[in-house]
Amino acid sequence: MSTAKIILDGKEIELPVVTGSEGERAIDISRLRELTGYVTLDPGYGNTGSCQSAVTFIDGDQGILRYRGYPIEDLAEKSTFLEVAHLLIYGELPDAKKKAAFEQEVTMHTLLHEDMKKFFEGYPSTAHPMAILGAMFASMSTFYPKKKDQDLDIIRILAKAPTIAAFSHKKSIGQPFIYPRNDLSYASNFLHMMFAVPAQKYEVSPAVHDALNLLLILHADHEQNCSTSTVRMVGSSNANIFASMAAGVSALWGPLHGGANQEVIEMLEGIQAAGGDARKAIAQAKDKNSGFKLMGFGHRVYKNFDPRARILKKAADRVLAELGVNDPLLEIAKHLEEAALSDPYFVERKLYPNVDFYSGIIYRAMGIPTEMFTVMFALGRMPGWIAQWKELRDDPKTRINRPRQIYTGAKERRL
Ligand code: SDX
Repeated sequence: MSTAKIILDGKEIELPVVTGSEGERAIDISRLRELTGYVTLDPGYGNTGSCQSAVTFIDGDQGILRYRGYPIEDLAEKSTFLEVAHLLIYGELPDAKKKAAFEQEVTMHTLLHEDMKKFFEGYPSTAHPMAILGAMFASMSTFYPKKKDQDLDIIRILAKAPTIAAFSHKKSIGQPFIYPRNDLSYASNFLHMMFAVPAQKYEVSPAVHDALNLLLILHADHEQNCSTSTVRMVGSSNANIFASMAAGVSALWGPLHGGANQEVIEMLEGIQAAGGDARKAIAQAKDKNSGFKLMGFGHRVYKNFDPRARILKKAADRVLAELGVNDPLLEIAKHLEEAALSDPYFVERKLYPNVDFYSGIIYRAMGIPTEMFTVMFALGRMPGWIAQWKELRDDPKTRINRPRQIYTGAKERRL
């Protein structure tokens, strides 16, 4: 085994080096404090691995993203979202029999308890749907308190999340809730609950169905991002899975994370309202004092391109053409990308479009309101949160996550 030598206060210690299946290497510092009295400091965890995981692999320099070894490009083209959910959570794509059983299980748990439906009466119509989703997830632990069947709780989360999301949309527009139907696929059921109205028949468009399936798959997992690390953190205290999902929703809501897709559209609308000139936004993003960032750009890990953004950029053209939608924001987005990628500020900092840059354009074309964009991200990320939570909880070596700190406050003083 290779090691890393550190000399501290004249004393040399050797720490083991861990090498992953894709050749990534880490210095295992789990005994550092015991051996030296030192801890490490890494605000934002840019250089710190929190765990070893077999769920998702990202190579930020090569623009590689694989779920359980399968390239995202293959899964986006050939799989359904529930197949990918099964792959992430249980480690393998389901065969035909398992797929049918998994889909049936999810279908049979899409209803909310009628008492949960009453919660919606208390929310203002302006309630952000991420607030509702997080509250509903935490509340599910009151309806399903016993942790007797983890697989059933996993099904419940996957099955009820779209219902909660669609109900929160209906609440915001004052329309009656549309109940899930057992004759529809996962994606079609969600679209039907979102857009059907009692008075008229709603037919799911194949183009919208396929676009939703693609968007959910592309968002399904992304190793130890902010919200997934939060789900692991909460799961490590042995909190129940519903409380852990609720914590993930809260972390994802931030505008620097999953909230970025809503911010991108609002930024593009702002550029459009100001005459459509992308160069002003670029200049503002480069001005540190402006506090403005080019939303949908940059990534902690991808320092070349986000493979999801590449897929979504192509999909945006295809879906808008299929739907006959001509959205000026798409052209503004493309000009913004071209202008940014030819500007030294962005090139030097390796800032490229991320998953959030084009996703909102497609959601808009599908008729999804901007307020719902981050909820759409959460619906996609559900299987990833579950898979990572399950991996942590199934690991007998898991300890409660409890980072250290370096204290910089007042020294002792007496009253
Ligand atoms: C997601 O982690 C994941 O995997 C997340 C995600 C997932 O699937 O879970 O991929 C989903 O969250 C995508 C990111 C969505 N967020 C945004 O699009 C918001 C805008 N982007 C930035 O806030 C930023 O790029 C982050 C948050 C994405 C990454 O932040 P980092 O890694 O902490 O990078 P940084 O802030 O240290 O930036 C490095 C430099 C800084 O300039 P200098 O101090 O070196 O001069 O780049 C600048 C930053 O000011 N910079 C930007 C910028 N992003 C970084 N400048 C202008 N516009 C931007 N968007």
